[in-house]
This record gives sequence, C-alpha cells and structure tokens, in this order.
Amino acid sequence: SPPFFVLGVETSCDDTCAAVLLSDGTVLSEAKASQTDLHEGYGGVVPNLAKGAHEAAIGPVIARALADAGVAAAELGAVAATVGPGLEICLRVGARAARGIAAEHGLPFAAVHHLEAHILMSRLPPAAEVTFPFLALLVSGGHCQLLRCGGLGRCEVVGGTLDDSLGEAYDKVARMLGLPVGGGGGPAVEELALEGDHRNVKLPVPMQQRKDCDFSFAGLKNAFRMANGRARELRGVGEGEELPRLDRADLAASFQWSAVRHLEQRVGRAMGRCEEEGAGIDRLVVVGGVAANAAVRGALERLCGERGWQFSAPEPRLCTDNGVMAAWAGIEKLRAGVSDDAGADEVFARYP
Ligand code: KG4
Ligand code: ZN
Repeated sequence: SPPFFVLGVETSCDDTCAAVLLSDGTVLSEAKASQTDLHEGYGGVVPNLAKGAHEAAIGPVIARALADAGVAAAELGAVAATVGPGLEICLRVGARAARGIAAEHGLPFAAVHHLEAHILMSRLPPAAEVTFPFLALLVSGGHCQLLRCGGLGRCEVVGGTLDDSLGEAYDKVARMLGLPVGGGGGPAVEELALEGDHRNVKLPVPMQQRKDCDFSFAGLKNAFRMANGRARELRGVGEGEELPRLDRADLAASFQWSAVRHLEQRVGRAMGRCEEEGAGIDRLVVVGGVAANAAVRGALERLCGERGWQFSAPEPRLCTDNGVMAAWAGIEKLRAGVSDDAGADEVFARYP
C-alpha cells in the first residue's frame, strides 16, 4: 500500500512528545515539551504536577508536530499513542488526545506498549537488517531488563533488576555529585566521567557470584555514596560545598566503569545461554535512555564483536523517550495487521 502519515503521541512520564512519520519510517517532524524545571527540588517526578503540565502542553505539541510535517489532521492515515506502562494520569492525557483525533477522522488507532516501543526503535529504517529474533537490553529510567524478542508482542524477559534501574542510579549519582539532573542526570555523569580515571576510586562490580541474568544497582549506589563521603572528608569539604572537579570526575568514572562491567557480565551470560540452547539468536540490541551512553554502547559493541554477534542501538538522540517511538511502534503493529479500539479509554500503569 502507498505510504501514509502516522501521528505518534507519548506521555508516559515527564515529557509531552509527538511526532509525524511516514509509514515507511521516514521521520517528518518531532515535537517535545519537557518538564525539566517543574519537578526540580522534589527528588523525582510529581505525578499531579506532571499531569497538569501534560494537559497544558498536549494540544500545542501535537499541533506543532503536524505543522512542522506540513500535514493536516485530516490527512493522517493512522494515530498511535503509548498506553502503558507509566503514570496512569499522565498516559491518559496523551492517549485521550490521540484517540480523539483517530475517532474524529475515522482513523485506525494503535495502542503502544512503552517498553516494546523502545525495543522497536532498533528497527526504525534504515536499520532494515534488525530482524527477529534478537536479544534486547532495555536500560532506561524506569526499567532494566534483558529480553528475548521473537516478534511483535513476543518478548520474553530473561533477566531484570532486583532493585533500581540503571537510569535511576545515574540520576542519584548525578545528584550526589551536584550535577544538573533536569531531564535525567545520565548525560552529565557521562560527560564528567570522561575527565576522570576509574582506577582512582574502587567500587564493586555487582553480583559477580550470581549465575543468572539479573541486575542490581542498589549496592553500587551505596558504595558510591560512601566513597563520595570518604572523599569529601579527606578533602575537608563542608556542607553545601563541592569536591574538586577532578575528584568528582574520578568518582563518576568509577561508577560508570562498575555499572558497565555489570552490564557486560549479565549480557554476556544471556548471550551464552542463547548459544547453548541453539536459540538462533546472534544479535544484541540496546535500547532505552541509558543506551544513549557512549561507554555503554562501546562496551557492548566490543562484547558482540568478540563473540561474533551483531550489535545495534538506535541513534543516541532517539534512545530517550520521544514521539517517534510511539509512531514507529504503531506502524509496526498496523503493518502486522493489528489495530486497537480508539473508542476505549484505558491506560495501564503496568502493562503485560
Ligand atoms: O527511556 P527514558 O527516556 O525514560 C524512561 O522510560 O525511563 O530514560 C531516561 C533515563 C534517565 O535516568 C537518564 O538519566 C538516562 O535515561 N540517560 C542516560 C543518558 N541519557 C539518558 N544515562 C546515562 N548516560 C546517558 N548519556
Ligand atoms: Zn522510556
């Protein structure tokens, strides 16, 4: 069938996102309103504040995405929106707006699973070579999982975190180092780590004795807190003051080094299982906000190279939450002949 225009809407957390894609995967426009300053000082996303900000932004963000693409709502061929998992009161804002447009113009609607949408970004053209099955590492602010993906809607979790996600750990570390955390502290930690040397601060690599594919970041986070405290004591840094930049860079580098070794070890184990079972899987895809991190990407790409696996990850910009992922996941569903009821009003905090 000839290509058609698809509007994608994503409001699962603290960004209001929309995008217009052609059904062949060409990105025509992207619009985003971030709530970076709104939640500052609360130590996390405040659901009610987020909901209000989504309500204020959703109309203008969708209008901007359509205008930038030069597409009128009546010219759309389909609409897609994230319906879970995430904050229900936030999801509802985007899902309602998207379903409203679909209903008004009699368009097919695709209800999108946020985690699957992250994973499917690895297949956004021109990445035509990323075919099922593959092993996926999803590392975001809300999740840390290893999955075997056999097809659309057919991802099986083979490992997950026992406590925090890696994105959360990055955000906590950023806070402890006095770095900006608005919109996620990961990029600031990554940048500072480039100036440091991990060998100057010893932190443990988590769960080296456990022979499974699960993750844990709480212990590393605690070890980091103690190392940070010791360094501050050693330098006689008072409350409200900051450690010299080089000390903080060493701490950041060490946290990232241990976290990346942990990822390598768990992913390596999952790869070994796939090989033993003759699962016919020889590709790793790395997705989610933390997949934007160059140290994470570099280490896992090297691991794949050593083991004869293919490696892929979405372009860094598209690893964090965005509207493109909702549109593209919707396109994948519609192409597979699956669509959902635009008349429904359900969203899901947890989504199987
Ligand atoms: O996927 P995402 O945008 O939202 C969720 O679905 O959770 O992920 C956001 C997380 C934040 O914790 C942020 O700090 C982290 O991804 N992140 C990074 C980087 N960019 C974003 N972590 C490490 N290095 C980065 N470059
Ligand atoms: Zn996400």
